Amino acid sequence: MRSPLTNPFQPGSDVVPDVWAGRVEQLADWRDVVRPRRHAGLYETGRTILGEPGTGKSSLVRRIARDAAEGGDWVTPQLRIPAGADPLKIVASAVLRLADKAGLLATSRQRVLDVLSRVEQIAVSGFSVAVRGEAGPEPFTALFDLLVELGQAAIAQNTVVLIHIDEVQNITDEAALSQLLIALGDALSHQVEVTAPGGVLVERHLPLAVYLTGLPDFEDMAGARKGATFARRFRTITLAALDEADLLQALQPFVFDGWATPDGNGGLESVQMSSGAARAVVALCCGEPFLFQLAGQRAWNAGSASTISQEEVVAGWRGAQGEASAHVERILNRLPAREHEFLDAMAALPPADRTLTKIAAQMGMTSATKVGPFSQRLDTVRGIIDRGKPYSFRNRAVEAYLTTDWPRVD
Ligand SMILES: Nc1ncnc2c1ncn2[C@@H]1O[C@H](COP(=O)(O)OP(=O)(O)O)[C@@H](O)[C@H]1O
Ligand SMILES: [Mg+2]
Repeated sequence: MRSPLTNPFQPGSDVVPDVWAGRVEQLADWRDVVRPRRHAGLYETGRTILGEPGTGKSSLVRRIARDAAEGGDWVTPQLRIPAGADPLKIVASAVLRLADKAGLLATSRQRVLDVLSRVEQIAVSGFSVAVRGEAGPEPFTALFDLLVELGQAAIAQNTVVLIHIDEVQNITDEAALSQLLIALGDALSHQVEVTAPGGVLVERHLPLAVYLTGLPDFEDMAGARKGATFARRFRTITLAALDEADLLQALQPFVFDGWATPDGNGGLESVQMSSGAARAVVALCCGEPFLFQLAGQRAWNAGSASTISQEEVVAGWRGAQGEASAHVERILNRLPAREHEFLDAMAALPPADRTLTKIAAQMGMTSATKVGPFSQRLDTVRGIIDRGKPYSFRNRAVEAYLTTDWPRVD
């Protein structure tokens, strides 16, 4: 039955939406590279997944974590770091819970008990107290030691540990960030001796994987502070808009067989979408995952017939225009003034004229080299533009907002 109660679209944050689109490469990176390599004891860096708000960073890693947990891996929940919070405390508590799951809390080995009590202290009193309170080893060493014990237990039980830390840009305390990154980075590169078949001792890495997710600002923070060590231990992936083809494919179940929903009498009933409606959703959302869910949700709620029509997509979107604008404004208003001006200047030029020199002139700058750094950041750090010949927008919602009447529809 098509009703708000059975609506499968989820325009919120921090969900794994039922209507999933794309991100095939990133899912395969976990399935075919990160997990198998770490499981086999080979080195593989952590992953830092960055992107503008609403690009689906949290959803992506939540999905990876969900699939991993279903397969028996030891997975932390999404560890969101609120602004100004103590990341070490949050991560220490989560790792302790995994240690419990691994059976480490029941150990009688003194070494492990010592490590546990040191990490418990961090989990309770946090980084600053642990650092300033007593002279002794730095808190990150306790977290590192526990990760090694956990990793050993994972080897014994033939599983993989996955740690997901979200909103990493909120870690503004330099010392805490550095301690956290060192603990995680050292654990990723640590090697232990195991007995291979035939009784020979070999070295292997721990079956431990780390995903950090957050806003692109993190790149500057971590890059500047942790330098080469951080770059060697974490690989950055910038998430950008979804392809139209991926979005259309995500809606194919609606167009072909229909989306199964409860009919209210214990049976199932399917809700269809006309192919025109599917194309309209894809066109309106401009590749933004959040707007895709929003357009789908509103179209579903715009009627009650068993087929979602193109008119319903448009009618639903009209009620969502304010939210769609707010979404793009959230991206634009977070930008430093010069980057925002750069986008405005780029949008004001006809597509064929979007070269660095002409954009600089449009901004009233005499030389292209002055604006080079802004354009570089908008491309590599934020994924909003593409510095091809000519420059173009990768974020199609930003482009539509700056160059057309979008999100208004007639
Ligand atoms: N691969 C995807 N396919 C479809 N919708 C997605 C996808 N990833 C995220 N979304 C939707 O986008 C919205 C924002 O996702 P979220 O992960 O919270 O973004 P971020 O963490 O980057 O701010 C959510 O409504 C979610 O349902
Ligand atoms: Mg998020």
